[in-house]
Amino acid sequence: MLDISTIRSQFPALSRTVDGRPVSWLDGPGGTQVPTAVIDAMSSTLHSGVSNLSPLFAAGRDALGVTQAAREAMADLLGTDDPRTVVFGQNMTSLTFSMSRALAQTWRPGDEIVVTRLDHDANVSPWLLAARDRGLEVRRVDITDDGRLDLDDLDRKLSDRTKLVAVTAASNALGTIVDVAEVARRAHSVGSLVYVDGVHATPHRLPDVAHADFYVCSAYKFFGPHTGILYGRFELLETLEAYKVRPAPADVPGKWETGTQSFESLAGVRAAVDYLAGLSGLPADAPRRTRLDDAYRRIADHEQTLAKRFLDGVHEIDGIRLWGIDGVDGRVATFAVTIDGMHPDTVAEALGQEGIFVWSGHYYALEVMGRLGLLDRGGAVRIGFVHYNTIEEVDRVLDALGRLRNS
Ligand SMILES: Cc1ncc(COP(=O)(O)O)c(C=O)c1O
Repeated sequence: MLDISTIRSQFPALSRTVDGRPVSWLDGPGGTQVPTAVIDAMSSTLHSGVSNLSPLFAAGRDALGVTQAAREAMADLLGTDDPRTVVFGQNMTSLTFSMSRALAQTWRPGDEIVVTRLDHDANVSPWLLAARDRGLEVRRVDITDDGRLDLDDLDRKLSDRTKLVAVTAASNALGTIVDVAEVARRAHSVGSLVYVDGVHATPHRLPDVAHADFYVCSAYKFFGPHTGILYGRFELLETLEAYKVRPAPADVPGKWETGTQSFESLAGVRAAVDYLAGLSGLPADAPRRTRLDDAYRRIADHEQTLAKRFLDGVHEIDGIRLWGIDGVDGRVATFAVTIDGMHPDTVAEALGQEGIFVWSGHYYALEVMGRLGLLDRGGAVRIGFVHYNTIEEVDRVLDALGRLRNS
């Protein structure tokens, strides 16, 4: 069990209020709240005076140390033994554009790639553009009416010409969890690579890159700063050609890290991983990956409790429609809802006036919204809970939705 009051004590009180009332920071506004330890790590990095990487003087050595510590922390979070397989960049989208350009150099006209209707556009458009540039055929895997990836359709879309399957680990719109190991098994059986978007899954489920050739995520979704992270299988990172400037390192991972990294963010990334490990009930000297594994079990348990409360409450409000899986299994606690007769923006604005920040529209999940017929109707309202949210916050949201419905 997670001790929520201990967790809340690790976060600063938000200076932002709405009409003097505290804000409920769900995962809806496109980023999670950041623990004090992460803010402190970033601030002390800046206070100390940090330069670019250099072994020759203290500030440069500090930058090397901060970067290495972040790499090791992310290796533990992602489940790789080799920190060199961890690449930092501006955000998931930029890293994916960069990798798509490199991979595209290995493709030939007539080859095929597979994207899905469940994915955020950051794991679709980079591949569509690369496919266009290289003359590839694009195939889309459908979803079921309740928003699960259709694995039979995946089988139909795979062929011996498939070069890449780009798939999300969890939907940022509907909360569906994808069985990435199974997708990878099927994709690998035809010789395809697998590029996993872990941005939405990483705050909710412990990543395991064992099945993926690439796995990308963003620290601002898992209680850290605005920095993107890419895992790539070492042989791929080593053999693919990176678009880089000539004096930049030629080896892995430096060849993939364009320009100067945000060292303060990297300090924050390490602190965010340590924050997550600290949610475990295991002794602090247990291996970090083991602690993370335990911590994520607790996170999943708590989020399931929140999800159940939310679903039970939504079922009791007339005129609210839930899109996606109507149950706690196979999903994270992210929900897309619409209210009869109300535009999703109107709902988001009304909740915002109560200090509940949620996203409305398509949240870049264009394929999902198109498939569900919501694109021309303003999309849906996304309400998401993470481990630091409480039952009281779920009730606060339900109460606000109920009042809106009756207004
Ligand atoms: C599932 C998913 N993938 C990708 C992205 C893009 O991530 P970034 O902002 O790091 O480019 C997001 C952002 O919301 C997302 O939710």
